[in-house]
Amino acid sequence: MSYQELYRESLENPEAFWARAAAGLDWSKPWQKVLDSGDAPYYEWFHGGELNTCHNALDRHCAGGRGAQAALIYDSPVTSQQKTFTYDELRDLVARFAGALAQQGVGKGDRVIIYMPMIPEAVIAMLACARIGAIHSVVFGGFAARELATRIVDAGPKMIISASCGIEGKRVIPYVPLLEEALTIAGVPELPRILVSRPQLPLVEMDPNALTWAQAMERAEPVDCVPVAATDPLYILYTSGTTGQPKGVVRPTGGHAVALKWSMENIYNVSPGDVYWAASDIGWVVGHSYIVYAPLLHGCTTILYEGKPIGTPDAGAFWRVIEQHSVNCLFTAPTAFRAIRREDSDGELLHKYDISSLKTLFLAGERCDPDTLHWAEKQLEVPVIDHWWQTESGWAMAANPMGIERLPVKAGSPTVAVPGYDIRVLDDEGRELPRGETGNIVVKLPLPPGTLPTLWGNRQRYFDTYLSRFEGYYLTGDAGILDEAGYLWVMSRIDDVINVAGHRLSTGALEEALSTHGAVAECAVIGVEDALKGEMPLGFVVLNTNAQIDEAQLKAELIKTVRSVVGPIAAPRDIVVVTRLPKTRSGKILRGTMRKIADGKEYKVPATIEDPAVLDEITEALGL
Ligand code: COA
Ligand code: AMP
Repeated sequence: MSYQELYRESLENPEAFWARAAAGLDWSKPWQKVLDSGDAPYYEWFHGGELNTCHNALDRHCAGGRGAQAALIYDSPVTSQQKTFTYDELRDLVARFAGALAQQGVGKGDRVIIYMPMIPEAVIAMLACARIGAIHSVVFGGFAARELATRIVDAGPKMIISASCGIEGKRVIPYVPLLEEALTIAGVPELPRILVSRPQLPLVEMDPNALTWAQAMERAEPVDCVPVAATDPLYILYTSGTTGQPKGVVRPTGGHAVALKWSMENIYNVSPGDVYWAASDIGWVVGHSYIVYAPLLHGCTTILYEGKPIGTPDAGAFWRVIEQHSVNCLFTAPTAFRAIRREDSDGELLHKYDISSLKTLFLAGERCDPDTLHWAEKQLEVPVIDHWWQTESGWAMAANPMGIERLPVKAGSPTVAVPGYDIRVLDDEGRELPRGETGNIVVKLPLPPGTLPTLWGNRQRYFDTYLSRFEGYYLTGDAGILDEAGYLWVMSRIDDVINVAGHRLSTGALEEALSTHGAVAECAVIGVEDALKGEMPLGFVVLNTNAQIDEAQLKAELIKTVRSVVGPIAAPRDIVVVTRLPKTRSGKILRGTMRKIADGKEYKVPATIEDPAVLDEITEALGL
């Protein structure tokens, strides 16, 4: 069937479409309704059905003859380690660790926070939670104690799983002090924890509430998979919104398994047994979906890479991994390719390796500039596919569906709406815009399986954030165009979310961090264009009148504050001291105009501005 035919069917007859996709999985109890619209605008997929994601990701393949196939390859240039786990081996480790969790009193519906580096134990912990029906919430290792604490408070976990350290290039980052601080801030200093003692920083003194991973495993008995309702949460993943309070995106078990498995064949065009590598981090949605769940649900070999695109040891690292493990499909963020290009623009390192196994490169996480796309195409000589999605969707909303039909690539566009997503572009009054005009990108409800049904513990915020703006539509938060041929062009965010190296950050959280400094009276953070990371935060601060502080020292202190409150990934490129911030007469900070000035773009002085002279001061302070 052509893409158009399948797409039409997915919208006109979604129940038949997704029931067909769901048949590829094992269900311990069949669903009663594929799509339950009884509580619209809240929808449920596979209502009444029961399954277990860990069973479908591991045990199903062991029973089906893939037990001896590599399931997970851990490749860690930062520790000079490599280890392959077959499906049988991974299933056994997961079953045992699930037993360890159960022994600690963790059961169905309990939350478990996972704050871990890119080590196999992290994947094992995620799958072990899934095995017993516990809900994991992985927190990215680059977030500081305060961010971790916010997530602990919101998720209310029964246990936290972590490690002695992470490794960033050549630096060892101790996790335990950070963990202790987060637990103290969260008001749960005695929360039970299981910690992996890594040889790079062995655990010597243990908190009385902690067990090492080895101790937990030694005492445990393997346990079987526990069936859960298709609508039960598999995990919660926090993502940045407009405020400093992150949103707990809930992932429904059944829809997630169905959609991800479907995506492997139809979007990524990979088959069971293929080697799939998502060079991301398990702390992000890409890592959840395409390092852990989708490749395993589809019977592929997945790669867990603890390293960077450059510097571990050089810009040839990706090509070395592709050659060594015969990678068929690579998925990463455009930033990674910009970093590689900067160090090896002629591809000299690339030519040292045989990457003939690679069939396709997929890019997502941020807008892919045409220059980077063309460079990657030229170097790799394989299709380079930009695709668009977000934490909330959990899988691609727009893509070139390589397994259905290879559509022509238009650089700068993530191609077309994926089956299941009825993408529209609306003006601010909710009217559908003609093709070619820029507006709010929305998805007509219902969203397809796997997408968020709610926010953890906050259905009202889910409604307010996503469903209330335009009745009957999901608000993506992105603005863009659908062109005459139905290609989507994602141009910008409509809110104060910025995207740094494919990492989504809230300017609100950064502003809250800056405000904690005693010298700061008021501040604003914007995202400015950056040749490597796509965007970088830039802070503007207005000082208290009595603040007497050297400007260089202040800037250093403020950057340090952001690093320690939000995390090093959010460090602003610079801090600019100004006497006033540009505001509308009603007091709203004109971030969009500030951004245009900082990016050296033309701008119109907004009619609502309180005092246009402030814009001249901003321009001057930026040295423009
Ligand atoms: N734990 C602790 N610290 C972390 C971390 C983690 N998991 N991840 C990043 N950091 C730290 C880095 O060490 C760095 O600290 P520093 O300022 O003290 O050096 C800071 O956060 C910024 O990190 P990063 O954004 O990774 O920038 P970088 O300059 O170290 O590396 C790139 C630049 C391009 C190599 C890197 O951004 C990259 O690999 N990008 C790919 C993006 C990606 O995969 N995104 C996933 C979404 S699909
Ligand atoms: P996250 O939830 O962290 O994955 O971030 C999702 C956001 O990143 C989207 O809403 C977009 O703003 C941006 N994004 C992700 N992929 C793309 C893409 N291919 N093109 C443009 N923007 C993208």
